[in-house]
Amino acid sequence: MSDTLVATDRLTTLMARGADFLGSKVAILCGAMSWVSERNLVSAVSNAGGFGLIACGAMTPELLDKEIAATKALAKAPFGVNLITMHPMIFDLIEVCNRHDVGHIVLAGGLPPRGSIEAIKANGAKVICFAPALALAKKLHRSGVDALVIEGMEAGGHIGPVATSVLAQEILPELANELPIFVAGGIGHGEAIAAYLEMGAAGVQLGTRFACATESIAHPNFKKAFFRASARDATASVQVDPRLPVIPVRALKNAGTEAFTAKQREVAQLLDEGKVDMGEAQLQIEHYWAGALRRAVIDGDVDGGSLMAGQSVGMVTKEEPVAEIIDTLMAEARTALERRGR
Ligand SMILES: Cc1cc2nc3c(=O)[nH]c(=O)nc-3n(C[C@H](O)[C@H](O)[C@H](O)COP(=O)(O)O)c2cc1C
Repeated sequence: MSDTLVATDRLTTLMARGADFLGSKVAILCGAMSWVSERNLVSAVSNAGGFGLIACGAMTPELLDKEIAATKALAKAPFGVNLITMHPMIFDLIEVCNRHDVGHIVLAGGLPPRGSIEAIKANGAKVICFAPALALAKKLHRSGVDALVIEGMEAGGHIGPVATSVLAQEILPELANELPIFVAGGIGHGEAIAAYLEMGAAGVQLGTRFACATESIAHPNFKKAFFRASARDATASVQVDPRLPVIPVRALKNAGTEAFTAKQREVAQLLDEGKVDMGEAQLQIEHYWAGALRRAVIDGDVDGGSLMAGQSVGMVTKEEPVAEIIDTLMAEARTALERRGR
């Protein structure tokens, strides 16, 4: 057997568990990206053999219902839905997914609210959660979660404090045999996919690399900003007030990132004056991000909007169809395995 065939088989073998779990051809998820991960990108990813996820974000149940129906009409393969745990109508959103028989639901943005895992599993769907630390990964496993995503701080959007490589070393050896684990954050090349699979990952999740795909509805200005940027331009937001815990967001530096600092000061002052409580303060911050991301993705305001992007943005250099991105990543992973096999 030639080296290439051996490596192809090895890649297929390493991805088999993740692909089986997702019902996809390859174990590559396109992470949900608010405003970006809608019917066009999601169906394109699933049709190309990966696994697309609708980003529900702040959508109402009615809007999510329409988006799932529209995606179903375009997709010839399974896709999932990503729900934010702090959404005030989370149980209605789960109900919408169940009505559509969505097979996989990702719960993002914090620990799943009581009863949510059961509500999803009651319909036979699989629950995937983010595990930001080993202890939480174990806890989620005990709670009946079917798979985990471990996402490091290299990623675009809301991030935790720990690097992908460290989470992978801490969590994969302990839990990879127990449930499928998908690694996310900072992956832009198939070499890294091969490495995480060899460490025990069932598959990977990428966001930044897919944001500028031909099928992505992101504004041309948004895409151009990604093509120009290098890894060091994707910086994490800073917390200005110790009393106001703000989840850091990784985005390309622009006037919008400065405006966020001012927004935090404004909300901190409202807290001081007793005009808002902590919950409301945090909600205002999250609404700020959602609005700013929309301005950049949909309106193309790349100065005032939020250009959420991971450090892998330096590896995004041109607009390509999703199928080409997946083929390239797979070919790179195959070459890496082939080289290691010698
Ligand atoms: C523009 C953008 C928006 C995102 N929005 C969300 C979101 O709404 N929900 C979520 O769980 N993750 C979100 N993410 C994270 C991605 O789903 C994915 O996990 C991450 O991009 C993976 O890391 P990478 O950017 O290094 O590929 C977003 C990422 C980006 C770049």
